[in-house]
Amino acid sequence: MQKLHFHLLLLSLSCCFVLALSWSQSQQFSHAKNYEGSSNLVDLDYHMGPVLASPINLYIIWYGHWNWRHQTTIRDFIYSLSSSSSFPSVADWWRTVRLYTDQTGSNITGSIVLSGEFYDSRYSQGRYLSRLGIQSVIKKAVTSHPRALPLNPYNGVYLVLSSSDVQVQDFCRAVCGFHYFTFPTIVGVTVPYAWVGYSGTQCPGMCAYPFAWPKYSGRPPPSTNGGNNIMGAPNGDAGVDGMISVIAHELAEMSSNPLVNAWYAGDDPTAPTEIADLCMGVYGSGGGGGYIGNVYKDSWGNGYNVNGVKGRKFLVQWVWNPVKRRCFGPNAMD
Ligand SMILES: *[C@@H]1O[C@H](CO)[C@@H](O)[C@H](O)[C@H]1NC(C)=O
Repeated sequence: MQKLHFHLLLLSLSCCFVLALSWSQSQQFSHAKNYEGSSNLVDLDYHMGPVLASPINLYIIWYGHWNWRHQTTIRDFIYSLSSSSSFPSVADWWRTVRLYTDQTGSNITGSIVLSGEFYDSRYSQGRYLSRLGIQSVIKKAVTSHPRALPLNPYNGVYLVLSSSDVQVQDFCRAVCGFHYFTFPTIVGVTVPYAWVGYSGTQCPGMCAYPFAWPKYSGRPPPSTNGGNNIMGAPNGDAGVDGMISVIAHELAEMSSNPLVNAWYAGDDPTAPTEIADLCMGVYGSGGGGGYIGNVYKDSWGNGYNVNGVKGRKFLVQWVWNPVKRRCFGPNAMD
């Protein structure tokens, strides 16, 4: 485990998305080797557990009060994962994730179907959720009457999305999202799940980077086009556009390490560095060291790197490509 790798571990909790690019940290990043091009530093290993090789039925649980526009953006991103859109697309981005296999040689699936949604608009577990409390949210969604989500232990995964007014343990301090698996004692079965919070009001500078600037960076935003925005959000909302990349991060890691015993780097299974952790903050060629890399601009100047359904554009971080042994995305210039 080498320097930068160790540095990333310091920033991450178990299987979580953590983007801690405060100014001082990005300074540290910039002293380190450009991560996009490096391969010798990474000890990503397969630990013999399953990957999500069967077509995935994804169930979204909307916790709290959600803006329908934000919901539409997120649904369109999920639809984009297995739809063909013009290159480079979200599905092209997912192709890197599909390079991971299990012991039987089965690749991660290319089929992710949004198979159900549940609206927990009454905050069934309150406005503060502990990590374990997220499992109670899932339990509620699969046992509620009359419109419960199916409890699908074969190929179901659950994505809990909390609204702007919900506090979640470690949210905004250490994590922007995480994935894990449910405990039979709480939910009844073991299924993979992920949680991602809407950060737009609580901590956009941390969880909606690079669409918002870290508040306490001690430096003004580099652009002068107003507010704390450093890059325009392609779907019009820094919070939700930032969330898209965190959702992408968690889905990639959940698929390659669903029970936290498949693909990860590092010797400590309680703090694994997973395939998206290795590429945090990298969205294009040359990325790393606090620079997001080469991405596109739409006609309003908003940043993006992949196309989705209905003409949508999204900015998603790259993931580790096990064949090229580097961070990679379909917008790579080489
Ligand atoms: C499955 O994974 C292997 C090993 O990474 C790769 O060579 C192959 O192209 C992958 N297949 C698909 C359909 O992605």
